[in-house]
Amino acid sequence: MAQIFPKSMNVLARMSILAVPFLAAGGGAAGTAFYRSDYTTGAREVTEQPIPFSHKHHVAQLGIDCKYCHTSVEVSANAGFPPTKTCMNCHQQMWQSADLLDPLRKSYATGTPIAWNKIHNVPHYTYFNHSIHVGKGIGCYSCHGNIDEMNLVYQSKTLLMEWCLACHRQPELHLRPKDEIYNIKWKAEDVTNPDTGKPYDQLTLGKLLKEAHQVREATVLTNCSICHR
Ligand code: HEC
Ligand code: HEC
Ligand code: HEC
Ligand code: HEC
Ligand code: HEC
Repeated sequence: MAQIFPKSMNVLARMSILAVPFLAAGGGAAGTAFYRSDYTTGAREVTEQPIPFSHKHHVAQLGIDCKYCHTSVEVSANAGFPPTKTCMNCHQQMWQSADLLDPLRKSYATGTPIAWNKIHNVPHYTYFNHSIHVGKGIGCYSCHGNIDEMNLVYQSKTLLMEWCLACHRQPELHLRPKDEIYNIKWKAEDVTNPDTGKPYDQLTLGKLLKEAHQVREATVLTNCSICHR
């Protein structure tokens, strides 16, 4: 990227969606590099929300668990957004007069859900399911990054096919114990290997977990029909 486009490109690409087809039409290697870059995949882009909800504040500072709000992530394809009632559990008492929370109170009074903008999307011809990933030991961190440090959520990975495939080829580089799924800060190095008395490295622990969680082989997990059904 850096060699192909000058620095000012950053600003340009962010400023105008019109610039995208124009630049991509440049064709050849530059077009492809651009197509596969953060700009076109939406990675790292911040999206405005009806209420400026902060994960940094609610997760890192207040210590609320992901599951309190994303209740369906273990059992369904979708992680889902919390209903207004979940916010009101606290905000009936806290910050109840702040203007920022106007849309929240309106939603509660009228029963109309808040229209959160969905940031992560895979195309309709691709099948994705949260519960299998979470159930086999892939943590939120591996796909969503440092959510606990984000004020507004951004997509930290490209979500392109090659990103999915890289992990499906070698899931041992990402697997973690099932009780650490929601722990954004977890590292294999924090776990002591009972055989050596030393910290684990991700590869060694990941291989053990791959067996324990009965994760299938790469030949199965990279089969086109697993994602394109
Ligand atoms: C107090 C409720 C609450 C908690 C706790 C919470 N979230 Fe959220 N989350 C939300 C709301 C509301 C949104 C929609 C607004 C937004 O994108 O910020 C959201 C959006 C997201 C998104 C973006 C989804 C998309 O594509 O639009 C991700 C990813 C996410 N949360 C992951 C997490 C993870 C991981 C944790 C735990 C570390 C967590 N959340 C904890 C309420 C919560
Ligand atoms: C477990 C309690 C709890 C829940 C649930 C909760 N909040 Fe909060 N929220 C707080 C507290 C505490 C503050 C900070 C008040 C302060 O610092 O003065 C806060 C602050 C805020 C703020 C002010 C900006 C900021 O982050 O400091 C907004 C906006 C907000 N919350 C929106 C929401 C929304 C939307 C939901 C539901 C998705 C939600 N909250 C769920 C406790 C909660
Ligand atoms: C293997 C990668 C992966 C893991 C692990 C993962 N997510 Fe996601 N997440 C995605 C993808 C991909 C999407 C977009 C899905 C779509 O468009 O259908 C998404 C979408 C979301 C959304 C938007 C609403 C929805 O359900 O589509 C939320 C909220 C979310 N994830 C929260 C979480 C939380 C919380 C965890 C941890 C318990 C988690 N995710 C773990 C990849 C992942
Ligand atoms: C960080 C690692 C990781 C990433 C990234 C990842 N996956 Fe997976 N995926 C896994 C693991 C582990 C399994 C479970 C394999 C098993 O059950 O043997 C899995 C299983 C699946 C399955 C199988 C479901 C079934 O019913 O058999 C599908 C479909 C899938 N992933 C789609 C995707 C898509 C689409 C993406 C990209 C948007 C993606 N995955 C990204 C690790 C990952
Ligand atoms: C682990 C999940 C996964 C597997 C396995 C997988 N794909 Fe994909 N595929 C995706 C995702 C996610 C996208 C959408 C994002 C993108 O365009 O990269 C996609 C997009 C595509 C596209 C559209 C690309 C474009 O440029 O618009 C084609 C064609 C495709 N896949 C073919 C295949 C073929 C052929 C195989 C088997 C060799 C395969 N896929 C295996 C996840 C997968």
